[in-house]
Amino acid sequence: MDKISFKITEDGSHTLYLEDLDETYHSKHGAIQEAIHVFIAAGLNYVDQPKLNVLEIGFGTGLNAFLTLQNLNNKSVQYTSLEAYPLKENIIDQLNYREELKLDDSEVQQFDKLHQIEWGSYQEITSKFSLNKIQVDLINYKSKEKFDLIYFDAFGPRVQPEMWTKDIFENMYAMLAKNGVLVTYCAKGSVKRALKEVGFEVEPLPGPPGKREMTRAKKL
Ligand SMILES: C[S@@+](CC[C@H](N)C(=O)[O-])C[C@H]1O[C@@H](n2cnc3c(N)ncnc32)[C@H](O)[C@@H]1O
Repeated sequence: MDKISFKITEDGSHTLYLEDLDETYHSKHGAIQEAIHVFIAAGLNYVDQPKLNVLEIGFGTGLNAFLTLQNLNNKSVQYTSLEAYPLKENIIDQLNYREELKLDDSEVQQFDKLHQIEWGSYQEITSKFSLNKIQVDLINYKSKEKFDLIYFDAFGPRVQPEMWTKDIFENMYAMLAKNGVLVTYCAKGSVKRALKEVGFEVEPLPGPPGKREMTRAKKL
């Protein structure tokens, strides 16, 4: 995954563009806006528990992890994030999220810490948020840990069809606790059908600006 360039999305925040795949990391209609709508509002805020185990597919820029840390509302979160292709430090340094989110000095330190910590074990970012970044291909990832919430933020099915299969969703289902929730920006018919086939209750929801729909799926 090389040849990365920066793009400004419609809310002013950066996303990254991969020329080889002709794919961006976020919605061109607004990266921060999309992350808040799909993962924070429909995911984190929806799961009404004081302690949450969150699994993210695709750490990327760390935007979802950071927004989670900023929106805890008294929750405490253990956050595991899988990433097959970690971004280089010089890319992270140029992202405009620090300015766009108007971070103060201590928040900037937290954002930087998310990126600087060791990979492969839980590291405390704050007393209410710890992060375990795992460098792994999702296809090979299995865990006995149970998660309450999954942020499914892989590249889209057009470029990575192997990430949106029944087999992958079976694994996601197995890793979720009872009443666990998976949220994704994707609302493709075949993806919703695959989720249903493995046992999820699928709820289409209005998408972020510029996208008609997103998906929330629940393990009953
Ligand atoms: C749509 S981007 C989202 C990134 C991130 N959530 C963010 O807000 O920046 C998808 C991410 O999944 C990662 N990825 C791609 N293939 C993967 C795989 N097979 N296993 C794990 N991560 C993968 C990419 O490198 C990229 O960081």
